[in-house]
Amino acid sequence: MKITLSVIKADVGSVGGHNTPSKKLVETIENHIKKEGQRLLLDYKIFHAGDDTIILMSHTHGPDYSDVHKLAWDAFAEATEVAKSQGLYGAGQDILKNAFSGNVRGMGPGSCEIEFEERPAEPFILFACDKTDPGAFNYPLFRGFVDPFHNAGLLLAPEMAKGFEFTVMDVNYTEGDRVIKLKVPEEMYDLAVLLRDPEHYVIESVVARSDGETAAVVSTSRLHNIAGKYTGKDDPVALVRSQKQFPSTGEILSPYATCHFVVGSDRGSHTAALMPCKLGSIVSFFDGPAIVTAAGLCVHNGKFTEVVDLFDQPFWDTVRMKASEKMMHIREQGFFGAAMAPMEELEYTGVVDRIKSLDNKFTIRGK
Ligand code: F6R
Ligand code: MG
Ligand code: MG
Repeated sequence: MKITLSVIKADVGSVGGHNTPSKKLVETIENHIKKEGQRLLLDYKIFHAGDDTIILMSHTHGPDYSDVHKLAWDAFAEATEVAKSQGLYGAGQDILKNAFSGNVRGMGPGSCEIEFEERPAEPFILFACDKTDPGAFNYPLFRGFVDPFHNAGLLLAPEMAKGFEFTVMDVNYTEGDRVIKLKVPEEMYDLAVLLRDPEHYVIESVVARSDGETAAVVSTSRLHNIAGKYTGKDDPVALVRSQKQFPSTGEILSPYATCHFVVGSDRGSHTAALMPCKLGSIVSFFDGPAIVTAAGLCVHNGKFTEVVDLFDQPFWDTVRMKASEKMMHIREQGFFGAAMAPMEELEYTGVVDRIKSLDNKFTIRGK
């Protein structure tokens, strides 16, 4: 059976700062999807990571199906009213347009979708980040799919030796979707030079060259391009299918042990280590570190199994310590150099405004 997995997420309000949606907010979303999605969906699950709520849905209508997008939009709109009534921080933050118009893309909520013919066993991972942007997935997807140090399947599994095709989006281009397709291993260095700039070039999807099946999709929306100003970090989600012609679940998880540095944490304007956390985790120190959660599931005839929390295992406790240490190291540097986000990524205008006001006080010596 050909099914579609749709993930639609938004931050419509949180408790105690940018920390976690209230129980009532999550319940409102769940009740809406349960009631209104009955005929539309085969199944659904609700997650939250930091202050973002994530709706995972399975159905047979294909990606970009308006009714599915509207279902999620309406759930977030209803939850916004709850957030306002509870006085939650940032109520309705990611609802950037007044009326729904066909698709949540370009309206605030993030989304990623994947359509496939189910394999006899269909394992996949739903990743969700908080306090960072979609380029956060560049590093782990590159290493998980391209690098035999992490993906031993490239050497061991004959079908994977054919490599993968990456679609990369230029997220600074706002007139439409500007994308490039690159095949690895042949074009690995071309891919690398783009992915090194995660605020500009973002992996949108990865396809197995052995059979043309989509392995991974990432939400690529940048809120500041939609709103014309910063309204918070995008806090991306990704779906990655695993095993057989794709990397194993462990290979996909392996690069997250790096706790690579991303743009995120306090005021959306600092460099932070990406900490692999248990499902439902919050942020804390310096509104960070940036977090990533990983839910492992199988889907069969469109129905989801129970969820396994893939970062809830003793190995990741050590990794979380490492992320804390990396975070403290970069924080010692305060706002200097690499510790603060590049100028165009700063979520607040204070620094830019101040530099502008100092500009005419500069003099050119000798003139
Ligand atoms: C992402 C997030 C941050 C905030 C940013 C600014 O989930 O919470 O990107 O949007 O820290 O927050 P305010 O405007 O509340 O200072
Ligand atoms: Mg937030
Ligand atoms: Mg968030």
